[in-house]
Amino acid sequence: MRQAGRYMSEYRALRERYSLLDLCRTPDLATEVTLQPVRRIDVDAAILFSDLLLPLEPMGIRFDFIRGEGPAIENPLRSEADLARVRRFEPREALGYVLDAIRQIKRELGARAPLIGFAGAPFTLASYAIEGGHSSSFAHTKALMYGAPAAWHCFCDLIADVIGDYLVAQIEAGVDAVQIFDSWVGALNAADYREFILPHTGRIFARVAPTGVPTIHFGVGTGAILGELRSAGGDIIGADWRTPLDEAWERIGFDRGIQGNLDPTLLLGPLDRVFGAADDVLKRAGGRAGHIFNLGHGILPTTPLEHVQALARYVHQKTRS
Ligand code: CP3
Repeated sequence: MRQAGRYMSEYRALRERYSLLDLCRTPDLATEVTLQPVRRIDVDAAILFSDLLLPLEPMGIRFDFIRGEGPAIENPLRSEADLARVRRFEPREALGYVLDAIRQIKRELGARAPLIGFAGAPFTLASYAIEGGHSSSFAHTKALMYGAPAAWHCFCDLIADVIGDYLVAQIEAGVDAVQIFDSWVGALNAADYREFILPHTGRIFARVAPTGVPTIHFGVGTGAILGELRSAGGDIIGADWRTPLDEAWERIGFDRGIQGNLDPTLLLGPLDRVFGAADDVLKRAGGRAGHIFNLGHGILPTTPLEHVQALARYVHQKTRS
C-alpha cells in the first residue's frame, strides 16, 4: 500500500531532481524507488512503484501531477461523446516502460521479497477521468453514471479490457501478485455497486484468474459493500480502519483472505498507541491464516519513518513464532 513516498528522505531527494512521471517512466528510477522501502522497512513484499493513472494517457486522456495538488486531467470527460472517444491500447507497447521496470525489479529483488503489481479499477479510474482530479462528492461521475447508463457501461467495459490486458502483461513480466485499487468506490451503495461496477470489476478478476496469480481487491470506506467487493472478485479483500477487522472478515467470509486495517494517521502519534492498535488488529484476526497485516490506506507524507519501521518490527515479533 503506497509504501514508497514522501515520508522517506531518499524518495524526497529523487523528487527534487525528477517529476513523479519521470520516476514512473524510467525503469532505473522506478526500480530504485520500489526498493527504497524494502531496504529501510522490514516489509514482506515490495510494491511496484508506478501510478494508477498511467493507463489514462494511452486511452487518450492526458494528465499531469501538480505539486501539492495531486493529479490534474487536461480535458475531463463530461459527456457521452467524450466517453465514446476513449480507446483501447496494447500495454506491451504503450506501457512497456512499466513492464521493463518489473523485469528489472524482479532481477534486483531476487528471493528477498515477492513483488506486487497493481492497476486501478473502473470506478476509481472513471472518477479521475470524469472529475479531472480528486473529488469528495463524485458529482460529475455519478451524473454520467445515472444519466447515461449505456455510455457508462460501455466506458467501464473498455476500462475492464484495458486493465485486464495490463495486469496480464504485468504478470507475464514477473509480478507475484496483483492488487486492484478501487480506492473511491466506497462512495457507492450496494445496489449501485452491483448495477454499475460489479460486472466490470468482475470481468477483470475473471481475466486474471487463469494465470493463478493471487489477487487483492482494495477499497477505502467500503464497510457497507464488502460483500459486493467479494462477489466481484479477489483472493484477498482490503478493509480500512472504519470497520473492526473481525467484523469486516465476517462480512467478506472466512473463505477469503483479508488485508488491513490500521489507520495510517495513527503512525503520526505515539508508538504505544500504534502498538496498542496493532494488537487490536492482530487479536481480531485471531491467528487465522489469510490475514495480510497492512494499513487501511497509504502512508501520509508527514509520517516519521521510525514509526513505520517500529510497526513492521512489532508485527513481525508478535506473529513470528
Ligand atoms: O511504491 C509504492 O508504494 C507504490 C506507489 C503508488 C503510487 N500511486 C505512487 C504515487 C501507488 C500504489 C499508487 C496508486 C494510486 N495512485 C492510487 C491508489 C492507491 C490509493 O492511495 O488509494 C491512487 C488513487 C492514485 C492517484 C494519485 N497519485 C493521487 C491521488 C496522488 C496524489 C496524492 C498525494 O498524496 O499527493 C498521486 C501521486 C502519487 N502517486 C504519489 C506517489 C508516491 C505522491 C508523491 C509525489 O508527488 O511524489
